[in-house]
Amino acid sequence: MTDFLEVDDLSPAALNRVLDRAAAWKAAPERVEQVLAGKGVALLFEKPSARTRSSTEMAVVGLGGHPIYIRPEEVGFDVRESVEDIARTLGSYCSVLTARVFDHQTLYRMADAVAVPVVNLLSDRAHPCQAVADLLTLRERLGSLDGRRLVFVGDGNNVAASLAFAAALTGMELVVASPPGYELDDDVVDRARNAGGAVDVVNDAFDAVKNADAVYTDVWTSMGDEDQADVRRAAFAAYQVNAALMAATGNDALFLHCLPAHRGEEVTSEVLDGPTSVVWQQAENRMHAARALLPELLEM
Ligand code: CP
Ligand code: NVA
Repeated sequence: MTDFLEVDDLSPAALNRVLDRAAAWKAAPERVEQVLAGKGVALLFEKPSARTRSSTEMAVVGLGGHPIYIRPEEVGFDVRESVEDIARTLGSYCSVLTARVFDHQTLYRMADAVAVPVVNLLSDRAHPCQAVADLLTLRERLGSLDGRRLVFVGDGNNVAASLAFAAALTGMELVVASPPGYELDDDVVDRARNAGGAVDVVNDAFDAVKNADAVYTDVWTSMGDEDQADVRRAAFAAYQVNAALMAATGNDALFLHCLPAHRGEEVTSEVLDGPTSVVWQQAENRMHAARALLPELLEM
């Protein structure tokens, strides 16, 4: 049983197994094994979601299990009862607990309280399930990822942090170009580098994207930071992914975005809907990635 709170909770070999299984089951859905037959998976959400909730539910259904979606107001983390008491209760019915939380610490508290795997469906620190889907998408488009150059333009946030570990585990180079004050955390950079990752943090987006195989962005204001939206809009104005920035890659670089996108802010519609955009493939791959990940965590 393995928790999946950050991408590097998986070894490089385990991550490869997940990606291989995701590709194989995507190509031949009739081969999907019913490893969750008769089992429940809890999905606890403190924040909204379109892709993560739906893809995880469909992954559980595909594996023969029963997903139980729980809205924030239904459980009341540390209000109606403690996080630990919620986890213990749901862990007695379900084989896996998955959760989208404001504070990453909540996931540690859940994981400490139960024996079943806990999966991070997004926290302030990480979005590892997204990163697995992104790796699957990049592999489908680029083949081997070793030595490829991925450039993340924008906020050094949860999505960027998980990409740093995803890159480190697969041999990709990751450059994160952010405005001063919004860079990827030093501890994420150090950990990714210690895992063998070629991770760079820079401030110049145009310089960073040169020779990129893929350019990735995410919203400037993440869920929970809405009170900073105006300040952030000003700080990130020069970091929009638009046709000029994509042209500066000097390549037909792929464009990635975890979605939801704010068209006209971090990305123009021209790029999001453009010929090298793979955002819908990424969104679809959330389900394939989740369906391949769960058996790995349950060691099935
Ligand atoms: N990419 C992603 O996590 O989307 P949702 O917030 O809609 O789940
Ligand atoms: N960084 C964004 C990702 C949404 C999928 C957020 O945390 O809101």
